Amino acid sequence: MRTAEIRRRFLDHFVQRGHTEVPSASLILDDPNLLFVNAGMVQFKPYFLGQQTPPYTRATSVQKCIRTGDIDEVGKTTRHGTFFQMNGNFSFGDYFKEGAIEHAWELITGSQDAGGLGFDPDRIWVTVYLDDDEASDLWKKIAGLPEERIQRRGKADNFWSMGIPGPCGPCSEIYIDRGAEYGPDGGPVVDEDRFLEIWNLVFMQYERGEGSGKEDYEILGELPARNIDTGMGLERAAYLLQGVDNLYEIDEVYPVLQRAAELAGCTYGKDHTNDVHLRVIADHVRSGLMLIGDGVSPGNEGRGYVLRRLLRRSVRAMRLLGYDKPALPELLPISKDLMKASYPELETGFDRISQIAYGEEDAFRRTLAAGTTILDTAVETTKKAGGKQLSGGDAFKLHDTYGFPIDLTLEMAEEQGLKVDEDGFRRLMTEQRERARADARAKKTGHADTSLLRAVLDQHGPTDWQAYTTLETESKVLALISGADGVPAAGQGEIVQLILDRTPLYAESGGQNADAGVIEWDGGSAEVLDVQRPLRGLVVHQVRITDGELTVDAAVRAKVDPEWRLGACQAHSGTHVMHAALRQVLGPSALQSGSYNRPGYLRLDFAWKGALDQRSRHDIEDVANLAVRRDLPVSATYMPLTEAREIGAIALFGETYNPEKVRVVQIGPGQWSIELCGGTHVQSSSQIGPLVLTGESSVGSSSRRVEAVVGIEAFRYLAKERDLVSQLAEILKSPRDNVADRVESMVTRLRDAEKELARMRAAAVLSSAGELASGAEDLDGVAYVATETPEGTGGGDIRKLAQEIRGRLDPGRPGVVAVAGATDGKASLVVAITKAAKDSGLSAADLVRGALGGKGGGNADLAQGGGVAADQLRPVLDSLRQLAAARGAT
Ligand code: ALA
Repeated sequence: MRTAEIRRRFLDHFVQRGHTEVPSASLILDDPNLLFVNAGMVQFKPYFLGQQTPPYTRATSVQKCIRTGDIDEVGKTTRHGTFFQMNGNFSFGDYFKEGAIEHAWELITGSQDAGGLGFDPDRIWVTVYLDDDEASDLWKKIAGLPEERIQRRGKADNFWSMGIPGPCGPCSEIYIDRGAEYGPDGGPVVDEDRFLEIWNLVFMQYERGEGSGKEDYEILGELPARNIDTGMGLERAAYLLQGVDNLYEIDEVYPVLQRAAELAGCTYGKDHTNDVHLRVIADHVRSGLMLIGDGVSPGNEGRGYVLRRLLRRSVRAMRLLGYDKPALPELLPISKDLMKASYPELETGFDRISQIAYGEEDAFRRTLAAGTTILDTAVETTKKAGGKQLSGGDAFKLHDTYGFPIDLTLEMAEEQGLKVDEDGFRRLMTEQRERARADARAKKTGHADTSLLRAVLDQHGPTDWQAYTTLETESKVLALISGADGVPAAGQGEIVQLILDRTPLYAESGGQNADAGVIEWDGGSAEVLDVQRPLRGLVVHQVRITDGELTVDAAVRAKVDPEWRLGACQAHSGTHVMHAALRQVLGPSALQSGSYNRPGYLRLDFAWKGALDQRSRHDIEDVANLAVRRDLPVSATYMPLTEAREIGAIALFGETYNPEKVRVVQIGPGQWSIELCGGTHVQSSSQIGPLVLTGESSVGSSSRRVEAVVGIEAFRYLAKERDLVSQLAEILKSPRDNVADRVESMVTRLRDAEKELARMRAAAVLSSAGELASGAEDLDGVAYVATETPEGTGGGDIRKLAQEIRGRLDPGRPGVVAVAGATDGKASLVVAITKAAKDSGLSAADLVRGALGGKGGGNADLAQGGGVAADQLRPVLDSLRQLAAARGAT
């Protein structure tokens, strides 16, 4: 049975049983504690916690998931994959254990002809939580399972949470016995390879707090209702039903593996090491595809780093298989074709996706080339010093600076007969990881203690947020937080977090900066410094009390600064206009990957390779400003996600969208610009005012950034440039239009003059050679000339002068010439000696080193050195003279 068919059967089964089919959420929902969505329930978390009322009581979905905890295990065992799909059914306060078990049993054992999955009931085992007699009894009653096929397990196995604070509860897992050839008898408690878990039913009824691991956390209390959350591994069901051994061999994955084997000229199933590489490739290529599809770009931290690792590991695995041409262009399209039936956006976005992936592969290939040179040098130095192993520091540098994975370093060092100090390497890695963790903690501490905020949210419900409707509200103070503690009052000069029942202030999100404004009350006022939404539904203001005392329960007026807001609206609408203009000029693959805007300024990152030429920049500005002139209407409406997609709305990645109701911001007629967006906007495009591109730069290998000023700031920017041109015109005494030509010809003349000056200076220096040679001093038979060149003489000329003087000395007599000069405060010294001097045992290199205390290089005839301050030249020449004299005397 094909994977798509299993998926369809699952959804149909639950839709027929009163569930609403909900599309998969993006892999990157904006939960600050979660790198990627790792379970079907993540998008429903607010419903389980009672923070939002679900629009249905039963739902079903197939959720894209990424788990990267065991990325190194992928392919070595056949149970680990980084990307997988989780079929789930959910009950929000509707059915509980009995319903969940009944629905699951019917689907897995229902005959395939009647739409079920047709597993043999005699091969099914289940586990339940230690004291969950109720679940155990239900399994006997509903499924007729015998006691011995219902096993009990502790918290680590049969109590489920997301690994972070959130809903949790005991669970019951369903296993299929694959037969004696896969392992020993005894059920899942004995062997989880033979007895393969395919479905986890979680009886979600508690809320967990902070803590670590699967067992060490506190239960905060019961959830408002008893819920069901289940997860069936779609890939696992597929490989059981397709009669293959593991997830790498199912229909949605295997063709990539096969193609990789073909390219590398090897056969899957013949050699364990090769098989591991092939599985890594099959898994990682698909995960990379899905991640880029959801808007992740390769980077050096967080999500971007995971993506980078996945792509690089797959490229690397291909190289280890002996294939060193670009691999992704061969493999990625295959994966896309396999996945597009379930995720059509992979097809429509493939230009963008493939550009990013191929760009990363190119970058990695360059990395390999650069790192290889560094590695070779390190190997050579180590060998010269008689070492047998490459230092941990070298391995770490290769890893950190050149992205060289340690196994690559190990292998390449081994090829050259060296070991690597792995312990040292790991020590440095741990230190770095600790630094990164401390960093991440520090970044989060702005709102680290969410328990206090959560308590406010639980007690008062979500903030009545009026940012779209008004600039001023009458509000009540619900809480004041100073540092980590709630306080009853805050006095003048204090900076505190303020939570109101209602606010018109925009909290930073979707790239739009927070509003500025004031909070006023009888007897005082406070300035709003920042506005954030650390928990969904809860707006928190950071304020500085400017006057009086603010107390909990006080009645206040919250006011947005209207000037600021106008600027914010201009900048955010300007961002949409700029995005539309970019895509019109460059093509639809120039999709926004991030943005930031505040009054007067915006920046936008988008998928693109290579710098934009002047022509494109002009065209983009032109399209944007023509749109402003056309005075296009700007509207914001709500609709279901499916409808928004139908009318062509661009959903930006990393945002959480409620599929029932999304906000669509539209500029102009038809599809001129349609984006899902929660920001504030102007009413028509002419209110944006002028847009001026001020910068264009690279942010990573396949992403560019444009920056622009907007509205009055754009005018001011242009006015400043005009003033600059006027000033130049005046200085140059030239009409404005000729300024560029004038500057160009001046620069050319200046360069010519500098060259001429250098030539003349060199000639002057050299012309002194004859005179200097004839004035040679006699030091006990050695002709000695020492001179200093004028400040600014180039190193080459100093050298030439030394040779020139030597050429004019009597070749039959020992002669030593020392020329010293200084450029920018740094001295250099050149010594040249005649053949007769060399024959008498003198050496230019020794003289230079002797005079400079060991520094310098060259040979017996000619040597040079430097590295001392210019004012040390005299003593250097003095000591040189003594050295030469000493030789003459011997
Ligand atoms: N949320 C549960 C899991 O991921 C079903 O296993």
